[in-house]
Amino acid sequence: MNVLVTGGAGYIGTHTCVELLNRGDRVIVLDNYVNSSPAALRGVEQITGRTFPVYEADLMDYNAVKRVFSENQIDAVIHFAGLKAVGESVSKPLDYYRNNLIGTLNLLEVMKEHDVKKLVFSSSATVYGMNNEPPFREDMPRSTTNPYGATKLMIEDMLRDLCYACKEWSVVLLRYFNPIGAHESGLIGENPNGIPNNLMPYIVKVAAGELPCLSIYGGDYPTPDGTCIRDYIHVYDLAMGHLKALEYLGHMQGAEAINLGTGKGYSVLEVVQAFERATGRTVNHKMAPRREGDIAACYADVSKARELLHWEAVKTLEEMCRDSWNFAARNGARQ
Ligand code: NAD
Ligand code: UD1
Repeated sequence: MNVLVTGGAGYIGTHTCVELLNRGDRVIVLDNYVNSSPAALRGVEQITGRTFPVYEADLMDYNAVKRVFSENQIDAVIHFAGLKAVGESVSKPLDYYRNNLIGTLNLLEVMKEHDVKKLVFSSSATVYGMNNEPPFREDMPRSTTNPYGATKLMIEDMLRDLCYACKEWSVVLLRYFNPIGAHESGLIGENPNGIPNNLMPYIVKVAAGELPCLSIYGGDYPTPDGTCIRDYIHVYDLAMGHLKALEYLGHMQGAEAINLGTGKGYSVLEVVQAFERATGRTVNHKMAPRREGDIAACYADVSKARELLHWEAVKTLEEMCRDSWNFAARNGARQ
């Protein structure tokens, strides 16, 4: 299969490209490197021993997107490209709406012109909002508290409307829970700029001695140890979920939302302990006030993914921690 991967140089995109290439698919990457670099794609080439066409292009540039479709035979698209920092989306809402919505509209219009009607879209567990009880099921009401989440809701709706109007479209909306980990080679992984907002990149920097101490946001939640619970999923498992979603596109029509998580929640303290066990490093931590916008517990009901995609996550929390650390260590974290 010939697969266009938008945002293919990013964290989840690179891991998905590796598994697509390993399976023998042909990959075409489109990325403007706003949150990544060509070096990540060299890592993909090194792991797989394969080369592939790469277009440095912005999805907001309609003609550039058209060129990619004119120059390549494309069977399906995996659409990762987008801005994803929740906090930044609150301070720069127009950037998020412009990039994520216009970029997606351009992509869909060019796909339509070129008669490519199979799409896997990166949605997020953020669409379950603050008012549902976990485990989150795909048919629960959706809501959001920030512009980033709003773009995911709007794009989900846009894709549903498109599938309603044009019956030959096949779209899977994958709702990711909390991806962490890295390729076991340590050649690709997550490498956020500056001080990380997310838990695992922060833990890694504390373990490496680059940051002094992890603040655990809230020890008074209604959970067994008082800290928040999340459904952490290894980025390898997530990548494999995309391969299964592509297969599923071949025998479905319409738009289908599917959770990609493990179905199991771990507390912040459990993640810290798992990381220490898996790596032998110490993670200095202290309790801090709750972070605005956090919910006590968020984990997936994974039965739909099991039934429709014949997929489930296989990697353990220890493997996620080990691989996150291994990537950081190979890429200059102090030992
Ligand atoms: P990432 O930032 O590492 O990758 C996104 C890629 O898209 C980057 O390489 C970036 O340069 C590119 N990009 C952004 N805007 C672009 C544009 N206009 N034109 C071309 N390229 C553009 O993020 P990721 O963690 O790999 O996430 C991929 C997708 O999954 C995103 O849509 C994100 O919202 C979604 N998602 C991520 C998480 C997570 O925790 N990582 C959770 C839920 C959903
Ligand atoms: C956040 C985003 C979500 C996105 C996800 C993965 C918010 C509200 N949600 O989810 O949309 O899909 O990242 O990118 O931002 N924690 C600490 N100390 C830290 C960092 C985090 O205690 O320094 C805690 C948080 O309170 C939370 C857990 O660790 O309970 C996980 O946090 P994080 O990695 O930021 O992910 P989410 O908040 O679940």
